[in-house]
Amino acid sequence: MTRHLSSFEFMQSFSTKLETALQNLSIAQYPPDARREMRRLSSAEVASLLDVSEAYIRQIVAKDKGPQPDTQNGRRTYSLEQLLELRMALSEKGRKKYMNPRRVEGEECQIIAVTNFKGGSSKTSTTIHLAHYLAMKGYRVLAVDLDPQASLTALHGNLPDFDPREGDTLYSAIRFESPVPTSQLIHETHIAGLDVICAGLDLTEFETAVALEMRQGGGTSFLLRVSQALEQVANDYDVILMDSAPSLNFLTLSSLTAATGVIIPVPAHMLDVDSTGKFLELASSYMQILSEMGSSAEWDFAKFLVTKFEPNDHPQANMTALMRQVFGEHLLLNMVNKSTAVADALTWKQSLYEVQRSRFSAPKTYDRAIESINAANQEIEKLLWAAWGRE
Ligand SMILES: Nc1ncnc2c1ncn2[C@@H]1O[C@H](COP(=O)(O)OP(=O)(O)O)[C@@H](O)[C@H]1O
Ligand SMILES: [Mg+2]
Repeated sequence: MTRHLSSFEFMQSFSTKLETALQNLSIAQYPPDARREMRRLSSAEVASLLDVSEAYIRQIVAKDKGPQPDTQNGRRTYSLEQLLELRMALSEKGRKKYMNPRRVEGEECQIIAVTNFKGGSSKTSTTIHLAHYLAMKGYRVLAVDLDPQASLTALHGNLPDFDPREGDTLYSAIRFESPVPTSQLIHETHIAGLDVICAGLDLTEFETAVALEMRQGGGTSFLLRVSQALEQVANDYDVILMDSAPSLNFLTLSSLTAATGVIIPVPAHMLDVDSTGKFLELASSYMQILSEMGSSAEWDFAKFLVTKFEPNDHPQANMTALMRQVFGEHLLLNMVNKSTAVADALTWKQSLYEVQRSRFSAPKTYDRAIESINAANQEIEKLLWAAWGRE
């Protein structure tokens, strides 16, 4: 019997149909001309982000020394840009050290790879929440999407000047033939302080390009491609975050070489932990080969982060205990809890920091979720400070 289903036609037909359907959906949700906007922040939030009292901010505003908030029904709100302005105004007075937390001379741009080869381990969620947290805290952040599936990219809606078909991804800067300057690939987002480099399918071309390059005697020089590309723009940022593809390929290896720190998100499930073990095994065998060839990577830190944690689930508690025993200080103390608030926000293509609390039918759920994400992010922020040698 002859088989009648052509693999090519099957793949091609559904790739086209699916792409069109998803594109229509995305256009309906985010019309191309609709610029995404960050919500406004309440004065309580602003005070908390600046670590000063609301009364103090009111004083500054009354003295005309800071940006004027919008007032509606007696409630003051600030834009993220105004928060930044306020932060800079306060830092000039120098009352609080690091009110402006940007790095200074001698402090190196931190490049953090969020990685694990298991799909669904919260890499993208971890990256976007860390990126938004750091931007709101006043850092200059660049998020680089290294997953051809482009989930992180999609979280920014339609960027006015990005077309995934134009090959406008980091691949353009890391390819061996006529790479473009990295600065050409950077897009501003609707979050003040956060820029992105988008992802697309052409990132996969790096794999064949490296294979070819190695055959032509290129050795391990491919490992330096990501770091060479990021170095060009590192001066403009305090932190560069890389969201990885769920695979351990040349691109991931090159990003691990560029990294100064690594975060490995792991759900506390047997299968995820097992898969993480395999990831480490494979990574270590690659690293060994590379280091024998004279290309080793050194980091300031590498930490596991338990994600999607359910405190009332016994097997997960046991798995977490096991991880704590095995990983010791390399497991972050704070865990990110599983929450419908996070899942909902991500379906709306937003981080929890972007969504209005009032949009959730159960605001308490939101409060608990953001509390656990804030705690993990704060712990990671401390790692940056330690790398910078701050007390
Ligand atoms: N803390 C969380 N609570 C609930 N759902 C989550 C949480 N973090 C991630 N998810 C969900 O898990 C899925 C995978 O997350 P994602 O960040 O895309 O993982 P990865 O990038 O590793 O593939 C997504 O559907 C996301 O909505
Ligand atoms: Mg992802």
